[in-house]
Amino acid sequence: MSSGTSSTGMTGNTTLITNIASLVTNDPSLGWGSPRSSKFENGGGSPLGLIQDAAVVIDGDRIAWTGDSREAPATDNRVDAGGRAVIPGFVDSHSHLVFAGDRTQEFNARMSGRAYSAGGIRTTVAATRAASDEELERNLTRHLDEALRQGTTTFETKSGYGLTIEDEARALRIASAHTEEVTYLGAHIVSPDHADDPAAYVALVTGEMLDACAPYARWIDVFCEKGAFDGDQARAILTAGRAKGLHPRIHANQLSYGPGVQLAVELDAASADHCTHLTDADVDALANGRTVATLLPGAEFSTRAEWPDARRLLDAGATVALSTDCNPGSSFTSSVPFCIALAVRDMGMTPDEAVWSATAGGAAALRRTDIGRLVPGARADLVLLDAPSHVHLAYRPGVPLAAAVWRKGTEVFG
Ligand code: NIG
Ligand code: FE
Repeated sequence: MSSGTSSTGMTGNTTLITNIASLVTNDPSLGWGSPRSSKFENGGGSPLGLIQDAAVVIDGDRIAWTGDSREAPATDNRVDAGGRAVIPGFVDSHSHLVFAGDRTQEFNARMSGRAYSAGGIRTTVAATRAASDEELERNLTRHLDEALRQGTTTFETKSGYGLTIEDEARALRIASAHTEEVTYLGAHIVSPDHADDPAAYVALVTGEMLDACAPYARWIDVFCEKGAFDGDQARAILTAGRAKGLHPRIHANQLSYGPGVQLAVELDAASADHCTHLTDADVDALANGRTVATLLPGAEFSTRAEWPDARRLLDAGATVALSTDCNPGSSFTSSVPFCIALAVRDMGMTPDEAVWSATAGGAAALRRTDIGRLVPGARADLVLLDAPSHVHLAYRPGVPLAAAVWRKGTEVFG
């Protein structure tokens, strides 16, 4: 029986959520030795720090206590979870939500056999440039709301559909009103305006555009891929960003083998995203470095591509995150539960590993420890599932299971 863990001295407005059949805490002290291993070596059998018949106390915007429901402290308010499961809010550490337009036709053509190509990004660039600020804002909030109703309480989002100084800075300014996890992706593709002179575009991305964008962003990203930016260009772009105080993350090894993953580890990027085509040396680098491997199965689903091998990464000891990559071209889903179901069905993950990767894993990919876990002091971001266990997220694919969502201690859906 758990005696409960608490932070000292509750001060704010307190709420008890009780009668929780199964609580996912992701507390590393509750049965999982290391977040870097899938071996569950402490005998806990799960990375999730599960507590059965549990309760949680929220104090203001923070978690104050978790433990056995019979031992919960007195609080101002009380919520009966009705014998259902509670998990941390999803941390979607990779999305592209500042865009306009639609690529239904491109998707339709793909589903009739055409291959995905990064060139489709240009369609969204044209539509995004033509859109008003209000239209971009409306689009962003619509997708955020959609994600929140499915349990996402933190999201990262990127620029990358502007590719001019003004349009990139505008995208980041709009995004920064909604999240602190904002990523400058001027290096998504070479701008159509510089198609004949990629070097001039890299100079712009690392120069004037970076100066205009850095104040709105925490991260810098680059699409390191044939048809986008090569290893040397990616290194130059990320190094320039770092010199301006931005932290690197990379779109790496999505469509083909390449230098992206090893560059990510070399530069201590927080995350290498996609990781679909990996050599043994790439897997070793991820297993031995701090860089998280963020897998984005919505992209493989929507491009009919081969799945990233999560099992291989986990067995090697890499830290794996799962995110949506929500964007109008390669992965137009805002649903983390959908990604969990795909990862379990097709990428060799257990339901427990997939839920960990979509919560604590996403937090690790953003180098955060205040989210993605329900431990005293963490941000009170929780999802009440309309199910007795988190396993239902994979067991019941396509079913909307988020019954209520709390963000920073406030019930925002339910
Ligand atoms: O992460 N790979 C590059 N960027 C996006 C796709 C963007 C698009 O096709 O519009 C991705 O999959
Ligand atoms: Fe992406």
